[in-house]
Amino acid sequence: MADKLVPVHVAVIMDGNGRWASQRNLPRIAGHSAGAKSVEEVIKAAKESGVKILTLYAFSTENWKRPKYEVDALFKLLENYIDSQTEILIKNDIRLSAIGRIEGLPDTVQRKLKSVMDKTMSGSSLLLNLALNYGARSEIVDAVRAVSKDCVAGKADPDRIDEKDFSGYLYTKNLPDPDLLIRTSGEMRLSNFLLWQLSYSEIYISKKMWPDFKKDDFIEALNEYRNRQRRYGG
Ligand code: IPE
Ligand code: IPE
Ligand code: MG
Repeated sequence: MADKLVPVHVAVIMDGNGRWASQRNLPRIAGHSAGAKSVEEVIKAAKESGVKILTLYAFSTENWKRPKYEVDALFKLLENYIDSQTEILIKNDIRLSAIGRIEGLPDTVQRKLKSVMDKTMSGSSLLLNLALNYGARSEIVDAVRAVSKDCVAGKADPDRIDEKDFSGYLYTKNLPDPDLLIRTSGEMRLSNFLLWQLSYSEIYISKKMWPDFKKDDFIEALNEYRNRQRRYGG
């Protein structure tokens, strides 16, 4: 039986790369590179702790507003991450998947993503779920479009659609809701992340910037989760 004290699904808003860099008089991009190291550590810590699903918010639908050189650098980092980590993911039995408007990502990123998803398909120790070009509002709009199409086609009955059915139209259709949400950099907002799925998640805010968030910090978040009492309104 699964240990109820360990969250099955942890979602993370990896925030503060830019500020980490500014504090060191470095370009923002240096913060994103440093943040990639935290990603590796947290994945390892999640796997070792018995977490089954780790959803990382890597690029939001709003992040396109950033200067082109920063957006390009973020996707280059993602490509490098995939290139350098694919074998390691396979060796560690980790499956990679993605949520978001994947079709809106640059072609090379889409190709690399598809390839790593195929190659890690049988990974069963941890599901590493990357939120890319992800926005909760566009996810809900996409779901509404799909439901509407099914209703028009007679495949769904508008009077009978319930919460469970609707969840089945979201990008996260095959995943349980996150038990724990971690956000770094001290910001207390959701920034359009998993608005539907986080309804009853426990929230943990770390003051550390993402590049400073390491294995021990992740363990500390899990320890705090252990002491939370989840009531779901009951
Ligand atoms: C998080 O760090 C990374 C992404 C959003 C891609 P930021 O780039 O948001 O860093 P801050 O919040 O400006 O410090
Ligand atoms: C949220 O961080 C998005 C990701 C971590 C990918 P942002 O830095 O984009 O969010 P805001 O602007 O602080 O709300
Ligand atoms: Mg930020």
